[in-house]
Amino acid sequence: MEGWLRLLALLGCSAVAAGLSSVVGVGSHCEKACNPRMGNLAHGRRLWTDTTCGRNSTELYCSYSENADLTCKQPKCDKCNAAHTHRAHPPSAMADSSFRLPRTWWQSAEDMHKEKIQLDLEAEFYFTHIIMVFKSPRPTAMVLERSQDFGKTWKPYKYFSTNCSATFGLDDDVTKKGAICTSRYSRPFPCTGGEVIFRALSPPYSAEDPYSADAQAQLKITNLRVQLLKRQACPCQSNDLNAKPQQSQHYAIYDFIVKGSCFCNGHADHCVPVAGFRPVKAAGVFQVVHGRCMCKHNTAGLHCQHCAPLYNDQPWQAANGKTGAPKECRSCKCNGHAGTCHFDMDAWLASGNRSGGVCDNCQHNTEGQHCQRCKPGFYRDLRRPFSAPDACKLCSCHPVGSALLPFSTNTFCDPSNGDCPCKPGVAGPQCDRCMVGYWGFGEYGCRPCDCAGSCDPLTGDCISSADIVWHHEISDFRSVFNESEPTWGWEDEQGFSALRHSGKCECKEQVLGNPKVFCGMKYTYVVKAKILSAHDKGSHAEVNVKIKKVLKSTKFKILRGKRTLYPESWTNRGCTCPILNPGLEYLVAGHEEVRTGRLIVNMKSFVHQWKSALGRKVLEILKRDCN
Ligand SMILES: *[C@@H]1O[C@H](CO)[C@@H](O)[C@H](O)[C@H]1NC(C)=O
Ligand SMILES: *[C@@H]1O[C@H](CO)[C@@H](O)[C@H](O)[C@H]1NC(C)=O
Ligand SMILES: *[C@@H]1O[C@H](CO)[C@@H](O)[C@H](O)[C@H]1NC(C)=O
Ligand SMILES: *[C@@H]1O[C@H](CO)[C@@H](O)[C@H](O)[C@H]1NC(C)=O
Repeated sequence: MEGWLRLLALLGCSAVAAGLSSVVGVGSHCEKACNPRMGNLAHGRRLWTDTTCGRNSTELYCSYSENADLTCKQPKCDKCNAAHTHRAHPPSAMADSSFRLPRTWWQSAEDMHKEKIQLDLEAEFYFTHIIMVFKSPRPTAMVLERSQDFGKTWKPYKYFSTNCSATFGLDDDVTKKGAICTSRYSRPFPCTGGEVIFRALSPPYSAEDPYSADAQAQLKITNLRVQLLKRQACPCQSNDLNAKPQQSQHYAIYDFIVKGSCFCNGHADHCVPVAGFRPVKAAGVFQVVHGRCMCKHNTAGLHCQHCAPLYNDQPWQAANGKTGAPKECRSCKCNGHAGTCHFDMDAWLASGNRSGGVCDNCQHNTEGQHCQRCKPGFYRDLRRPFSAPDACKLCSCHPVGSALLPFSTNTFCDPSNGDCPCKPGVAGPQCDRCMVGYWGFGEYGCRPCDCAGSCDPLTGDCISSADIVWHHEISDFRSVFNESEPTWGWEDEQGFSALRHSGKCECKEQVLGNPKVFCGMKYTYVVKAKILSAHDKGSHAEVNVKIKKVLKSTKFKILRGKRTLYPESWTNRGCTCPILNPGLEYLVAGHEEVRTGRLIVNMKSFVHQWKSALGRKVLEILKRDCN
């Protein structure tokens, strides 16, 4: 017995277990790769054997042993009977405490040549080594096998035989290093107390990371079984002429120690019972190696084999037991709007292998890989932090006054501020009223007032007294505008303009400063104009105005009355500066396009809302300073 206890101690600190057990000590906080405590997997679990001595009736048996000089001792004979506790030798006796109860054993029925001892586990476990201590002589042939799929398929770990080539047709690792068969543990002596030892990771593997795929393929088990194939008698038995049951022999095993640990991929240092698992009580056994990992490193699962729900930003990895790198799972950025995320290879590759987490089921009216924006139909309330559940508010666009976005059947507001896209002539963040100078809120928006001033938004009736001017200038209008030209059918227009998105365009307010600067611009026209409407023509924009006063004109004669201004930068950002708001009057100083005679408005132009004092000042500058 002393012999195997010493061996057991040796194995404990051998290279085999080093990979797993060395990381155990790295701290119960599990900051690095960690592994739960190792123990005897047979503790608390049932061992299955084909037979048990004395199951049906009392059986007689004799045990033989030898002295150190191989001379035979007196045989000891006894009876076994499974029904009587003190004569019973059930399989559980192999799995009780080998320290507290070293003298208990399992014994087979008599004359069994083939026997099987099997340990079924309720989950995957790491298996590092097995130690069997025989009471009977060890078999001349046996095989140790494991299953990784709960007994569906089996693979041999090791064959044992006194003659590997004769029994199995295999090489013997005594003569050929690394062979799968060995003759080391099959000799008839000692007749009692003989050991069989096997390590799952033999030295060529021992330097390896225990969590690597190769090591796991070797270490992972769900079942372990030993097939005893051929019995051998103690050589002393043939000397015992008095033995009554001359031929009757039994297999008998004191201890069946299966060393291993919970299978956690380096992500846990503690395990609890798998759901439904009830440990088998055995004398002297208090420590059971349980199979359900208490996962760290943001991992989850029975074996920490995947990332926790909100931690799938990177592919899952086992910890590295060699370097200690924990390889923890990284959190997805979901702005507090999702409880889970999944790893997406396309997103991962697109990010240059930095972030592959895609949030699942974005809540609170958000959407996007990171739930980072409001859904269509919602807008960002800037007064709330984005992580707040009410950061995205429902758009409230007036169903009549709001325009549809291109290629869309719904009205969506600007997700950044909630402003709705308005139909022509319509104003307000929700597009619920006519702009100043427009009337007739309806399906096609609002129409420009046919007045010099503003008009009643409901009836279109002119409010100011300036109608007379209108009739006066009707001829001018005809000379400039071709009414049959379809582009002026403004009702069909659905385009966007700065005027309908006044909130979107921020233009610097211009001031009339140094007269020299004003003159230096060499404006070719300076007019007072009332803005009637604006039209996006796709390639360019046109603003209909009524010229009310001509302060300066150069090459072309500018008449009072309706005319078109051509803002240059209209289509760039969907707006133009300076802003020309319909319904308002401006002083506009700019350049004519020589080729076409068009009145251009661009960033060089001077535009300021009309005031008579401003008009007087500009006239004065034109006369006094610019010549
Ligand atoms: C014990 O009895 C059962 C059925 O009663 C029988 O199948 C089995 O072979 C018997 N075992 C032995 C060792 O006689
Ligand atoms: C094994 O058996 C073969 C054939 O039976 C025999 O030739 C060989 O010598 C044996 N080897 C040993 C080591 O006994
Ligand atoms: C990115 O990740 C993929 C998949 O994990 C891998 O095949 C590829 O080599 C990685 N590329 C880089 C540049 O690391
Ligand atoms: C008005 O437009 C139509 C169609 O574009 C054109 O045929 C006609 O010549 C134009 N009339 C004037 C006066 O420009």
